[in-house]
Amino acid sequence: MEQQKEIRLGLLGMGTVGTGVVSLLHRNGELMQKRAGCTITVEKILVRDTSHPREIAYPADKFTSNPEDIIDHPEIDLVVELMGGIEPARQYMERALKAGKGVITANKDVIATHGEELLKLARENRCNIWFEGSVGGGIPLLRPLKNCLAANRVEKFLGIVNGTTNYILTRMEWEGISFEDALRDAQDLGFAESDPTNDVDGWDAAYKVVILGGLSFGTFVSMENIYMQGIRGISFRDLQYARELGYTIKLVAVGDTVEGRVSLRVHPVLLPLGHPLAAVYHEYNALFLEGDAVGEVMFYGKGAGAFPTASAVVGDVIEAACGKVHQIDSSTMDIQLSPRPVLPMGEMVSSFYLRLQAYDRPGVFAALASTFGEHQVSLDMIIQKRSDEGTAEIVLITHRVKEDNFWAALDKISGLPDISKVFSVFRVIQGGSQR
Ligand code: HSE
Repeated sequence: MEQQKEIRLGLLGMGTVGTGVVSLLHRNGELMQKRAGCTITVEKILVRDTSHPREIAYPADKFTSNPEDIIDHPEIDLVVELMGGIEPARQYMERALKAGKGVITANKDVIATHGEELLKLARENRCNIWFEGSVGGGIPLLRPLKNCLAANRVEKFLGIVNGTTNYILTRMEWEGISFEDALRDAQDLGFAESDPTNDVDGWDAAYKVVILGGLSFGTFVSMENIYMQGIRGISFRDLQYARELGYTIKLVAVGDTVEGRVSLRVHPVLLPLGHPLAAVYHEYNALFLEGDAVGEVMFYGKGAGAFPTASAVVGDVIEAACGKVHQIDSSTMDIQLSPRPVLPMGEMVSSFYLRLQAYDRPGVFAALASTFGEHQVSLDMIIQKRSDEGTAEIVLITHRVKEDNFWAALDKISGLPDISKVFSVFRVIQGGSQR
């Protein structure tokens, strides 16, 4: 059978990543042609306003504001979705798959919430959906998990998957600036949106932890089952105490399995300064995991931006194009998924950092210690410093304890007459353990 010599793309969206994809296809087109065994051309681009001036000079007839011009185009082989948001992106991907076209996307929101049904649809239509760019931008994460590490049982992973929050925490820690000032700088640099909720409250990382969980544990956990704590409650004082105790604070995406049950969560942690992820600063992302055969593995790089994300998207385009050219039934390469029980957060075992203010009078420590003791919470490290007139600031780290026990103890402690304020509570990763 004759080989197809040209693969035609339809792009849905031409924002930052779309522009990066088109530029990269131009810049390295010759190289890609050799690697894919065919030319890869952009046939049509869906944009909101076709008359809007663009950075990339393309003939006007390449642009359309009608999605049917791409989804129903008989000569478009692959649809590259770069619109972001759930609808109408999800609906366009669904229609493209039903039309038998391969879909490439970096849309974590859609994959985390509808990935399972889209993968099923792709299989039914003997095509596939690729989404390497949805987690970790340009860092190869999903294909290594799916292919290179396929021989391993991955029981846990820990990642810094949101560049904006890592940038904010780095600036706070290194320069002693407030969360608000660091956020403003992140917004000025284009890392954070004008409404930063998605990044700072953990949503972006939660979508990504769902996808990582899907690839690592073979199950897509729904967003309602993802525990989320963002970074708004972290102050420079917490970062200073953390350092004094031998830690840094990072927002992490964590996945692990405990007796067959899956736990996926996003929250800040105190990370020992010697942990490989502690050295990941600014907008960089990294994923640290353990496979039973390979041992510890870490992936590191830029998790966002036009070219890093385009690198992942175009990598997917080349794999999809290769599959088309060599007539490989790409539906056979998809991810095998099955439902698994979720471990409720209250049953997790964690170590905690707590910073509070107490009245400086006899019996305060005794009351704290006995309340913790009643709930089987054992203390590992304690610091007390003189605070405002008549008060003391107490910082402590607990040993590992069932979450429900810790929260019940804290509830009681918050109500003690000796305690004037609970400032912050974060989980702690102890020594070499990820949990
Ligand atoms: N806003 C994300 C980040 C990039 O800061 O990492 C897109 O997922």
